[in-house]
Amino acid sequence: MPLKIVAGNWKMNLLFHEAEALIREVIEKSPDNENAPLNIFAVPFPYLNLAQNLTQGTKNFAAAAQNCSSFKSGAYTGEVSASMLASLNIKYCLVGHSERRTIFKENADELVAKMNLLLENHIIPIWCCGESLNERKQNKQFDVIQHQMNTEVFTLTQDLFEKVVIAYEPVWAIGTGLSATAEQAQEIHSFIRKSISKKYSDDTANKTSILYGGSCNVDNSKELFSLKDVDGGLIGGASLKSDSFVKIISTMHELL
Ligand code: PGA
Repeated sequence: MPLKIVAGNWKMNLLFHEAEALIREVIEKSPDNENAPLNIFAVPFPYLNLAQNLTQGTKNFAAAAQNCSSFKSGAYTGEVSASMLASLNIKYCLVGHSERRTIFKENADELVAKMNLLLENHIIPIWCCGESLNERKQNKQFDVIQHQMNTEVFTLTQDLFEKVVIAYEPVWAIGTGLSATAEQAQEIHSFIRKSISKKYSDDTANKTSILYGGSCNVDNSKELFSLKDVDGGLIGGASLKSDSFVKIISTMHELL
């Protein structure tokens, strides 16, 4: 069974004191036992050490970075390397979020470099994929996702691929309040799992956590998390308030 994960992607939100209060509240109010899902806070760089310190004594919480450099080290002003994240004991990092792809023009080569550097540093990439509204309107979602897989995660050896978490995030659903329907999510998740089977093996496919992201919230998380091939969520807006994030974590907990 794939690991069930509820990850909050804070993006560029919250100040330091708000970050601290939110992490403390979520940890305090969430189930934290053997059966609870893995819960991740993907926070801005300046809060990583804080998030790491607050989560390290818990059973089911972890801190994640939202990005890392595609370079190893050196004269790259403003960049943060995978080895720096590792030196803070960070175990997860988002890669290829659609905002990185569209606003910061990150391409497949850079994303592959990032994933390799993260894996060399024993950090699990949470690799994001998904089609735009235009691509969905033209019914190109399967081709787009297959291409993203072929040129990015599928360049990894099977051993390394097995460490990666996948997040399907249709771009048209991110921050719009318009989540994919259960049918749309299940269709793509099952397509992704079948592609992994074809590329690597059934066993690898059955072990891979595939998260859904894009306007996942308190009201739709139960339906989405109940789907056969949905192993959790990558939550943006609804992870910024402790009440909603705790409810989403508890929803997954109740389904386990
Ligand atoms: P959203 O963001 O939940 O606010 O739609 C999800 C994401 O971008 O990871």
